[in-house]
Amino acid sequence: MHIFRFVAAVAVLLLPLYPAQPVRAKSAMVVTREAHATDVGVAALKAGGNAVDAAVAVGFALAVTHPSAGNIGGGGFMLVRFADGRKTFLDFREMAPAKASRDMYLDASGNPTKDSVIGWRASGVPGTVRGLETAHKKYGKLAWSKLVTPAADLAKNGFPLSYGTALSLKSARNLAASPESKRIFQTNAQKNGDFFEPGDLLKQPELAKVLERIAKHGAEDFYSGETAKKLVSQMAANGGTITLEDLAHYKTVERTPLEGKYRGFDIITAPPPSSGGIGILQMLAMLEKTDFAASGAGSAKSIHFMAEAMRRYYADRAEFMGDPDFYKVPVSKLLNPKYVDARRATIDADHATSSDEVRPGDINGKESTETTHYSIVDAEGNAVAVTYTLNGGYGSGVTVPGLGFLLNNEMDDFSVKPGAPNMYGAIGGEANSIVAGKRPLSSMTPSIVLKDGKPFLIVGTPGGTRIITSVFEVIVNVLDFHMNVQDAVNAPRFHHQWKPDKLLLEPGISPDTRLLLSQQGHSIETVNAICEVAAIQFEADGWLAGASDSRVDGKAAGY
Ligand code: GLY
Repeated sequence: MHIFRFVAAVAVLLLPLYPAQPVRAKSAMVVTREAHATDVGVAALKAGGNAVDAAVAVGFALAVTHPSAGNIGGGGFMLVRFADGRKTFLDFREMAPAKASRDMYLDASGNPTKDSVIGWRASGVPGTVRGLETAHKKYGKLAWSKLVTPAADLAKNGFPLSYGTALSLKSARNLAASPESKRIFQTNAQKNGDFFEPGDLLKQPELAKVLERIAKHGAEDFYSGETAKKLVSQMAANGGTITLEDLAHYKTVERTPLEGKYRGFDIITAPPPSSGGIGILQMLAMLEKTDFAASGAGSAKSIHFMAEAMRRYYADRAEFMGDPDFYKVPVSKLLNPKYVDARRATIDADHATSSDEVRPGDINGKESTETTHYSIVDAEGNAVAVTYTLNGGYGSGVTVPGLGFLLNNEMDDFSVKPGAPNMYGAIGGEANSIVAGKRPLSSMTPSIVLKDGKPFLIVGTPGGTRIITSVFEVIVNVLDFHMNVQDAVNAPRFHHQWKPDKLLLEPGISPDTRLLLSQQGHSIETVNAICEVAAIQFEADGWLAGASDSRVDGKAAGY
């Protein structure tokens, strides 16, 4: 008996301290929202590619296997931290076409129409193909065609749909509104035209041809070649605004990442036109001189303090943020320690501040919760975080006939009518008004945390305005609450964005905590599944830990 007790006790000691375990690997790791795309990324690494190569291959693969957000018809951001310490941020966000103008989505009475959300006029000039090509040309190692062909093959041969993707395709109303989208994504010809079910093969022959041309001719096909010409002729025929000149003028912008420190860790994150990096750094700085973490993760006290930091950041967000090439974003003022100290000083430890008492600002109801994020690290220690998007789920709902890819509705991320809510309830300021050639403000926040100058955490997520608070919470869960990365990602999340004055809580937050928070004056609303984080942690013993969010059917894999 004694020996059994002894063995049991040792076994308990050896068991992991946390209930959820990440996927562990020694050399390299890929975490994406969809299993086939993860496999494509791992294959690129095993073929001798670096993390940038894998990121390019995954970007194309997700355009096939995760059609609600993976894309070639949208845009995004890639943050890279190279093993030798260099860092870069590739901005391939969509641009407003030359024909775009401030009031283009207002009707005769000055009210916003639905045209920024659905249909041909909703799209900004797509940046993804150019962005992935720029990344590859500057930083990749493998042949370009090797990175695009796996995606083309998935489109041509089809892939079995996961439960989640099949359900999502079935329920997307914007797909149903476009005949070409309905035909491709909601009509299974093998099954008398019924919806696709989990396990059914989704084949996309038109998209396969586009990807084969991109594999052969590079981004030139998309921006001035056959694909460009076909896209523009469909645009013209359907009242869209994008022209051949718009496509020819599209450029990736390489920006300097935003950097800051938190409790001795270095945070590398997204600069404008993302509003997210400023948010992460400002909110962490508000926490830094406090003992908010002492009461523990998920406690009313820590949630209250973090929610108050969120409230204050979001009050600044729309007033001061937009495309830095068109509007001078006061980054250093918003992150100035004196300014942050003053913001922190207004937090009452026991009571919620009414959002009406927090100035400045104007904004932000709710944005689309689609978009997708993936995190990659290679055997050399290069770390890549990519967040890219069509904006809403399946973007504008429009699939270009003959080309098989969906177009974004990113024009809705501009303030369609400065001061008035858009389709998602977002109200924006002049900083984010529509101007030809401008990029809309984003919440996408791919981020990399360093410890002692070495990569420690790669993190990002889709989720509209909730991206910023979710990345913030995962960083705090790892750095302050010492969770392993899977627990940090799975932990119940919460979100406050100043206006509306509501504290959103996932169901996993306990009834006692809810009661305490509402007694402090928070107006509580329960929401399911805030965001879908994909993160990688570099553990102290040299292992890589990959965490795909338990809220979705993504995949972490490595070797
Ligand atoms: N369209 C989502 C974002 O850029 O934040």
